[in-house]
Parts: sequence; structure tokens; C-alpha cells
Amino acid sequence: MSQTVATPHGLSTERDAGPFDPPSQITRLREARPVSPMVFPDGHEGWIVTGYDAVRQLLADTRFSSRQDIGILHMPYETPNMPTATEPSPQVPGLFVAMDPPDHTRLRRKLTGAFTVKRMKQLEEHIIDIAERQLDEVARLAPPVDLVKEFALPVPSLVICELLGVPYADRETFQVNSAKFLVKDQSFDEKIAAYTALTTYLAELVTRKRATPGEDILSDLARHDDLTIEELTGIAFLLLLAGHETTANVLALGTFALLEHPEQLAELRATPDLMPGAVEELMRYLSIADIFYRYATEDIELCGETIPEGSTVVISLLAANRDPKRFDNPDTLDIHRKARGHLSFGHGIHQCLGQQLARIEMRAGFEGLLRRFPTLQLAIPADEVKLKSDMNIYGVHELPVTWTETAR
Ligand code: HEM
Repeated sequence: MSQTVATPHGLSTERDAGPFDPPSQITRLREARPVSPMVFPDGHEGWIVTGYDAVRQLLADTRFSSRQDIGILHMPYETPNMPTATEPSPQVPGLFVAMDPPDHTRLRRKLTGAFTVKRMKQLEEHIIDIAERQLDEVARLAPPVDLVKEFALPVPSLVICELLGVPYADRETFQVNSAKFLVKDQSFDEKIAAYTALTTYLAELVTRKRATPGEDILSDLARHDDLTIEELTGIAFLLLLAGHETTANVLALGTFALLEHPEQLAELRATPDLMPGAVEELMRYLSIADIFYRYATEDIELCGETIPEGSTVVISLLAANRDPKRFDNPDTLDIHRKARGHLSFGHGIHQCLGQQLARIEMRAGFEGLLRRFPTLQLAIPADEVKLKSDMNIYGVHELPVTWTETAR
């Protein structure tokens, strides 16, 4: 392979072009060859797809198996000592994000009713309430405060805990352990330890729910006799992790991005009707869940290139969402843009199950925050904000903010 991209530390994730922009290596690659061979740090060859059309087409093609993908865990290739995969990974019971049909279909189908647009609409008032109550708590604090700890993480955690019937009081167990295995260079053993701690906790929880079900999504699932405890645990794990880490990062990084674009922030504050469009644009612009994996089950032609059977394929949603062939001035945040069509929730059969929930949380979160804190600003220089370049989901580790007045 003559034109392969050497990636000495896995994919270069250093944000050398700015905190919100794709690594320049990835942008150059998209311009040069949107479907390109690459070499993984362990020396084996694979492919990387960065162009919008190619990514969308790939995600819609089930010949690209998800069994290479441990979903948002991304254990292969970025974890030291992770063995090279040469065939589809064994399935983890319940973790349907990393399954193909018909297993994927069987499990996802059991949850679609719980996450319909209609069901989520019914929850909207309640989610607004949760966000407002959390903002009451923030308003009681003396600034500066860390917005991640006090707002961005609690809101989605409270919501998903309530939906799933996971006691919020147990958040130390799941927040600490989920964060551990989203760290890229955490050792394989440490990741397994965090995974075991979390699944042991969840296995006990779903076993209790099977015996005495309550009024929540996990109890509803536990009523299905054809799901094993291992499957229930895997589903609980997936929903809990996907349900709080992702949205929390958009809330925090999105606030940072808006504070760095004060005219758009002011406009959004003055015209809350712009919020749904602004949320879509923040989703596109930030693409906090960037890297996903697939596995070619046969030779597949993709936008003029042939990906050979057996290849591991890396997908960059961030690169795709910044493709100038799809979005004009893609590296500009523009809350007036029609950003729908972005790929931040994925595409095809694995498209995000929680997207309506996430949208409602983000609209409620940003709307409440901007209204209640009209003088919100960063409490440290922007270049000192600690970015999550070391994590598999992008965001900020902390967002110290301050204000001089609050409103209702
Ligand atoms: C799948 C992103 C919020 C649950 C996905 C995928 C993406 C994504 C890109 C596709 C994965 C793939 O193709 O391999 C996001 C982002 C979120 C978010 C950016 C927040 C802004 C949520 C929430 C939930 C959730 C709140 C809550 C339940 C899931 C599940 C899947 C999924 C269960 C797997 C679907 C399947 O494999 O059929 N998400 N997500 N997500 N997401 Fe989300």
C-alpha cells in the first residue's frame, strides 16, 4: 500500500486546528482520499472513511458488520495490549450496538416502543422540570462553578436513571466506571475491571427487577421471559452509558462553543425559537461521538474504492459532518443553518435509539441555562479549558463558569 496513512498513536486526535475542529490530518485525508487505506498502531492494515457521502453509504450497508465495533467502548486498537481482531468479535450479550441482524433486530425491537417520538414528547415537561431543578441548584452556588459537575452531567444522568429505574444515588458506581473505560489509553485490564464493576452492579439490579418489576424501561424488559439476565445486563449497560455520557458532553462542549460565539449566543437567548435548529447545528459542529468501527464481510465497493473482505473500517463522523461537499462553510458554527442530515446520531439500522430523548434534553438544558444565567461567562481563559482529547467521546473535562446575576 503506497498511500497509507501512518497513525503513530492510533488516529491522531490532537485538536491542532482548534478545540472544535477536526484534527488537521483527518481534514487533509478527507480532501485527498475520503475512503482511504490506513495502518493501525499494531501494524495491521485497515481503512478509514471521512467523506460525507461515503460515510452515509457505508452506515446504510449491512455488509459492513458492527461486530467490529464495541460501540462507544472502542476497545480495539486504541487500548494498549488489545489483541488484533481478525474476524468479527464475539458478541457481548445484550450489547446490540455491536451486533448485526437478526440479533440486533431482535433486541432493538424490544426497545423501540419505549423511545418513540410520541413517548419522548410526553416526557418533555418532566425533562424540562429536571433541568430547571438542577439550574435552581446551580443558582444557589457561589460562582465560579464547574458546569460539567453541576449541570451537564447531572441532567442526562437524572433523566436516564429515572427512565431505566436505576437509583441516582448509585451514580458514583456508574459515572466513575463509565468514565474509566472511555479513556483511550486506559489499560485493557483496567477497562475490564471497570466493565466488570458496572455489569456486576447492573446484573444485580435487573435480577431484582425480574423478581419485582417496577414502572421503568428495565422492568418492562425484565418482564420479557425470552431475555436472559446477561442480555438484560448488556442492554442496561448500553442504555445507561449511551444515555448520560453523550448528552452531557454536548451540553458542556456546546456551552463552551456558544460562549466562544457571543453574537450567536445573544441571538439564541433573545429568540428561543431558534433552539431546535441550534441544537442540530451544535450536534453537527461538535460531533462529540466521532469514531466508529465496522468490519467488511465481503469485498465492498465504496465511492470508487474497493474495501477487501476482512478489513477493519474506521469511520469519522466529525470529518463527514465537516465535509464542504455537503455543508457550506462547514467549519463555521451557524445556528441558522439547516443542519438536519448531519450524521452525529449515525445512520442506518444502528441510528441512535435515544436521539429524540437527547434532543429534548439538549433543548431544555440550553434554553434553561441561557435564560437563567444572562451573564454567563467562562471563569478561565478559553485556552485553559481541559479538552477530552484523551477520551473516546469528545467534550470538556471541566467548564469553570461564572455570572453576575441570575433570572427565572
Ligand atoms: C447509537 C450518538 C444519545 C442510546 C448511537 C450511534 C451514534 C449515537 C452515532 C450509532 C452507533 C453505530 O452506528 O455504531 C449519540 C449522541 C447522543 C446520543 C451524539 C447525544 C447527543 C443517546 C441517548 C441514548 C442513546 C440519550 C439513550 C438511551 C443509543 C443506543 C444506540 C445508540 C441504544 C444503539 C442503537 C443500535 O445499535 O441500534 N448513538 N447518542 N443515545 N444510541 Fe445514541
